[in-house]
Amino acid sequence: MATKSRCRKSVALRLYGDIMSEYILETRDLTKHYGGVKALEGADFQLRPGEHVAIMGDNGAGKSTFVRQITGVEQRSRGDIIFDGESVNFAGPLEARKAGIETVFQTLALADDLDVPDNLFLGREMTFMNWLGPFRLLDYKGMRNATLEGLEKTAVKIPNIKNKIRNMSGGQRQCVAIARTATFHSKLTIMDEPTAALGVQETAQVENIVRQLKEAGEPLILISHNMRQVMDLVDRIIVFRRGRIVANLNRDETDGQDVVAYITGAKTSAEFEGAP
Ligand SMILES: Nc1ncnc2c1ncn2[C@@H]1O[C@H](COP(=O)(O)OP(=O)(O)OP(=O)(O)O)[C@@H](O)[C@H]1O
Ligand SMILES: [Mg+2]
Repeated sequence: MATKSRCRKSVALRLYGDIMSEYILETRDLTKHYGGVKALEGADFQLRPGEHVAIMGDNGAGKSTFVRQITGVEQRSRGDIIFDGESVNFAGPLEARKAGIETVFQTLALADDLDVPDNLFLGREMTFMNWLGPFRLLDYKGMRNATLEGLEKTAVKIPNIKNKIRNMSGGQRQCVAIARTATFHSKLTIMDEPTAALGVQETAQVENIVRQLKEAGEPLILISHNMRQVMDLVDRIIVFRRGRIVANLNRDETDGQDVVAYITGAKTSAEFEGAP
């Protein structure tokens, strides 16, 4: 197994050069067209190990489209995605999750007919030692306890975790999705507007989860319209406008006004000459 993965890595290094080791995620010319709609156009993006990057931009700028291509929710029109040293093309979000990308989607990808623990552990159920040969014994108690621990981190109150997701409020659903990222270590976490439906207290808790990820050295892509949150939490800000990346700003060298100017198109960056 180890030999196989070493082998795959050396192929990737040969294909893409030394730059492979520098980034946990890189996209090159990532593009998605829906018929005539150019939702995402030529995105060159890099994320370093441990780095927290925000993606900002107006409604319809292409932020969620970008996430959907990376996580295999949709198949891209063209471009390359290099994750953890390998060129990847995930068939779906479950495959991306198995590879180590934990995503909180804007349109929450939860299974409506399952309860909270089943949603958290979908595709990676806890089992007891496998002494039954081909049969597996699921560890329901272990999953229930881990679920309660994860939910505690988000501060959301869910009266009964055995309730099906379809019977929960928007904020409760969002917290179940976030609890999933707080429960499992991942190589990369992506959150697409994770606090949009949350109250003040729950938002603060989610921001704490983000800080914990930073302390643990786990990289993050955070899509948010909340300037205060972005300025508080991330190292770098990428701005999307009309499907293109139009700015790449270090948090310490910019301010909210500057970022807004790129979002609205009042300002353009020399680095992205020709951007809309
Ligand atoms: N399945 C689809 N078919 C056609 N057009 C689509 C589809 N999905 C998205 N689009 C279009 O692609 C563009 C980018 O959408 P996207 O959802 O990526 O925006 P966004 O930046 O995430 O916006 P928001 O901040 O509102 O979430 C929009 O113009 C949208 O209407
Ligand atoms: Mg979106």
